[in-house]
Amino acid sequence: MAIKCIGILTSGGDAPGMNAAIRAVTRTAIYNGYKVKGILRGYHGLVTNKIIDLTSSSVSNIIQKGGTILKTARSKEFRTPEGRQIAYDNMKAAGIDALVVIGGDGSLSGAQIFANEFDVPIVGLPGTIDNDVDGTDETIGYDTALNTIVDAVDKLRDTASSHDRLFFVEVMGNTAGYLSLNGAIASGAEAAIIPEREMEVDQLAELIHNGFRKSKSSAIVLVAENKATGGAMGMAERIKKEFPDFDARVTILGHLQRGGSPTAKDRILASKMGATAIEALSEGQRNVMIGIKNGDYVYVPFKRAIAHSQQMELKDVDLVRILSI
Ligand code: F6P
Repeated sequence: MAIKCIGILTSGGDAPGMNAAIRAVTRTAIYNGYKVKGILRGYHGLVTNKIIDLTSSSVSNIIQKGGTILKTARSKEFRTPEGRQIAYDNMKAAGIDALVVIGGDGSLSGAQIFANEFDVPIVGLPGTIDNDVDGTDETIGYDTALNTIVDAVDKLRDTASSHDRLFFVEVMGNTAGYLSLNGAIASGAEAAIIPEREMEVDQLAELIHNGFRKSKSSAIVLVAENKATGGAMGMAERIKKEFPDFDARVTILGHLQRGGSPTAKDRILASKMGATAIEALSEGQRNVMIGIKNGDYVYVPFKRAIAHSQQMELKDVDLVRILSI
């Protein structure tokens, strides 16, 4: 069946650049002769039938804004077959023939299930600050979040070096360490703690000791959030117990990493991915995510995008140490 009307939704945690993606999908779709509808609050809006028309002017003046004008949610109802049936019925009643889903791995998993159950053409865009989606070198929002982290660490460095202090700075990432590792490289932190590679307390203490011995006046350790280890709080408690001479403080950056105006890099990524999503649907592609690999925009089957089989560069953990000696 020929596609006439495309629905767009953003789902899961918001990410800077989602608005740039909504704008690009909407305007490229209209340019190519499609009608466009926006679904509010992600899959929840499909279940509760919150669907609006999108025109070219609906997406004016949003490229620079963080968050998502379509709002977002993590929908419990959509996880049930009954919820998905209601979502499908609402989608059909609104005249929507295909979907563009912007979100992280959870949202893309939902897209895969929905597409298989109801034979709906869906194209996904990776939108998450965590960068934990396979088949793409970067996700929309990751670069902005990294820049936010660097900005925060630069500020913390001022106070840390004034007091000769050690700071544990907790960053987001869900179960992935990309924000911690690359945030550490970019900010010149002394160490990065990531879920992908364990670091013992005495290993870390030695690293910090060495730094202070070499007349460093501060140390900053980026710690990826991690329920199992207690993140930055857990690490600081362990260090303080074993090495009470360290004057340690904890800063949790939290949700401020999700906000803010997207960087130029994220705006360009989101705009090009958005345009490629419409190209993909026009070519008859379905159930693929748009990724970027070595500068090329590629189609990644949902199954691969959500596989979590991509390996991160663990030698970069050593690079953080080498660069901070
Ligand atoms: O996936 C994005 C993310 O910000 C993760 O880094 C974090 O673990 C999670 O969402 C927080 O979710 P919520 O906003 O629901 O607390």
